[in-house]
Amino acid sequence: METKVTIINDIKKDIEYLKEAGRIIYNGGVVAFPTETVYGLGANALKEDAVDKIFKAKGRPQDNPLIVHVASKDIDYLVKEVPEVAKELINKFWPGPLTIILNKKDIIPNRTSANLESVGIRMPSDEIALKLIELSGCPVAAPSANISGRPSPTDVERCIEDLDGKIDYIIGGSQSEVGVESTIVDCTVMPPVVLRPGGITLEMLREICSDITIDKAIQGKPDGNLKPKAPGMKYRHYAPKAKLKIIKGNKEKTIEKINEIVQNYIDNQKKVAILSTEELSGRFPLGEVITLGSEKNLYDVARNLFEALRKCDDINVDYILCQAFEEKGVGLAIMNRLNKAAGFDILEV
Ligand code: TXA
Ligand code: MG
Repeated sequence: METKVTIINDIKKDIEYLKEAGRIIYNGGVVAFPTETVYGLGANALKEDAVDKIFKAKGRPQDNPLIVHVASKDIDYLVKEVPEVAKELINKFWPGPLTIILNKKDIIPNRTSANLESVGIRMPSDEIALKLIELSGCPVAAPSANISGRPSPTDVERCIEDLDGKIDYIIGGSQSEVGVESTIVDCTVMPPVVLRPGGITLEMLREICSDITIDKAIQGKPDGNLKPKAPGMKYRHYAPKAKLKIIKGNKEKTIEKINEIVQNYIDNQKKVAILSTEELSGRFPLGEVITLGSEKNLYDVARNLFEALRKCDDINVDYILCQAFEEKGVGLAIMNRLNKAAGFDILEV
């Protein structure tokens, strides 16, 4: 299949391209587009055969439900009930990187919700995303626009890398602002539970509802007894081809340990990359150092994380080492993605 690619520089001037992409979505095609979290792979959420094409293009397991993207806060036609706390979260954080899980109405096909009674809904804040959804004239099911298992794409080049030839249209915009996927909050239970940490932090959510908890199964290594409530969180994910190890401990010990391991790999003719904060990047004399951003602003680190993992694949390293981050604020989302990418290979020093 030939995939059309258009970069949108100016929404007003380029509106015809977005109208065309919107028509493709409405009529059952698949379009990749930018959002403020990561790029999404969109199709008409109300059409089973359209949604099917997303699963095929990504190679996504059928039991992993899709998030439905909307361009307005009026979601009564999609869900049975919007509890008070969900209304407050929506009013505070939409449009933005927050997905709310609610009990779905029958209008949402089972293919979209992977046979669950609930559905995740999100209104993105990215201007291109919002305009495209509005012009589609339908709610848009959109997982991250990567081949299943790979790090999510945060720019159009990475979408093209994964999806060229597999979908109808790729709409490009700027680099994703947040860089990790939306925070998911399950509001079908009270108090609500965070199923996936993201740019809207637990601390921010607790300002609206102090009782909000976090799904315990997503914090540790998955085991037989504790299954994450978001089906997607159980898969190996965000994984670069190289083996990633996280080094956790105080700063000096971490640096020392990383340099020791790097030396060891190099002695064994292995190629190794180090994901580092700006502050520490001068402390690793050996190996390929990839800078994530300043430790003073973990939002920078979140924004650059997936691209850094993909760069490791580009330069074909065998191993990747990365320091741990404090699991506070957006650090919780960063560590969640790193842990999964590392298959929970964490070395405490
Ligand atoms: O930021 C985002 O949310 C991005 C952009 C494109 O909007 N989308 C995204 O979709 O990350 P995806 O498919 O890569 O991740 C969706 C996650 C999966 O872990 C899935 O299992 C979970 O949301 N999910 C979806 N519907 C659910 C439901 N009804 N109950 C529990 N988990 C759900
Ligand atoms: Mg994904």
